[in-house]
Amino acid sequence: MVQIGIENTIKRHVPLRSMLFVPGDSERKLEKAVSSPADALILDLEDAVAPSRTHIARGMVLEYLKSRPDRQRQEIWVRINPLATPSALRDLVVVAGAPDGLVLPKVSSYHDIVQLAHYLEALEVREGIDPGSIRIIPVATETPQALFSLGGYVGCSPRLVGLTWGAEDIAAAIGASTNRRPNGEYDMVYQLARALCLSGAAAAEVQPIDTMFGDFANPEGLEADAKSARQAGFTGKIAIHPNQVEIINRAFSPSTSEVEWSQRVVDLFANNPGLGTVGLDGKMLDMPHLKQAQRVLELAASKFDREKAS
Ligand code: COA
Ligand code: MG
Repeated sequence: MVQIGIENTIKRHVPLRSMLFVPGDSERKLEKAVSSPADALILDLEDAVAPSRTHIARGMVLEYLKSRPDRQRQEIWVRINPLATPSALRDLVVVAGAPDGLVLPKVSSYHDIVQLAHYLEALEVREGIDPGSIRIIPVATETPQALFSLGGYVGCSPRLVGLTWGAEDIAAAIGASTNRRPNGEYDMVYQLARALCLSGAAAAEVQPIDTMFGDFANPEGLEADAKSARQAGFTGKIAIHPNQVEIINRAFSPSTSEVEWSQRVVDLFANNPGLGTVGLDGKMLDMPHLKQAQRVLELAASKFDREKAS
């Protein structure tokens, strides 16, 4: 059997299937999150925390990070406030807890990533943390200007490992009273935001992470939404409630039949070097199919690595 992609997977960051938002000032939810199978938590200092409690949340988040230094099973990220606000620099006190990464909301363009990366370079040295170790994922569609800059993330910083998108803040910024059509689908601007996030991430070779599914008491709806996101190319999804995490993990893990098929495709090409196109079970296969099959095997291998760690 030809093993393709496993070495690459180890060198690259393992894709995060699920990232669970946890309000940074909620002792109960922070505690509950410890037992969640989410690949990553995002401790929030922004919208889920009332401004009057931000300073309390900073202290709680820092303490929490320090109390959980082992991140093998679950990474711990922090969403700070937008760089344009005075809160952002104060939020960076959490660097002392060595978060795996920071989620940066309401960015305008890749310039925000470069600026945050500069801050982190200085702070990591001060805190004695490996320089470059704190990664960044922006919420890349929350301001109108951001929509016009999604092709700009290519090569902006090695800290950039993903892009995610949101449909709430952009709607508020535009002045829309709803972001949905009468049939419940996202309206044009938000479908555009989703598509640009996906293609911007592909261009920058970072992980595209789908936005949250807000209706947390609707598991069937979430499953359908997550499956369609994965088919579209997203490799992970934001969760806002613990009950969403297993559904998301499942949706973003390749099934046994997918893995088997992909292995057959990879083996077929490996056994027929020099062939650009081959037939399998009556289907024509060429390079895009091989790439897709390799990707599925990489994902399967990274899931295996993650489960070994838990
Ligand atoms: N992380 C950890 N634990 C959570 C949680 C979360 N995001 N959401 C709910 N829980 C816990 C609750 O504390 C409760 O535990 P308990 O019974 O031990 O107290 C349990 O899960 C069930 O919660 P439930 O009653 O169904 O939900 P809720 O009404 O308490 O909360 C929300 C609903 C939406 C407010 C909550 O899920 C939440 O805070 N989500 C995150 C919001 C956020 O961070 N948004 C910013 C990004 S969009
Ligand atoms: Mg928001």
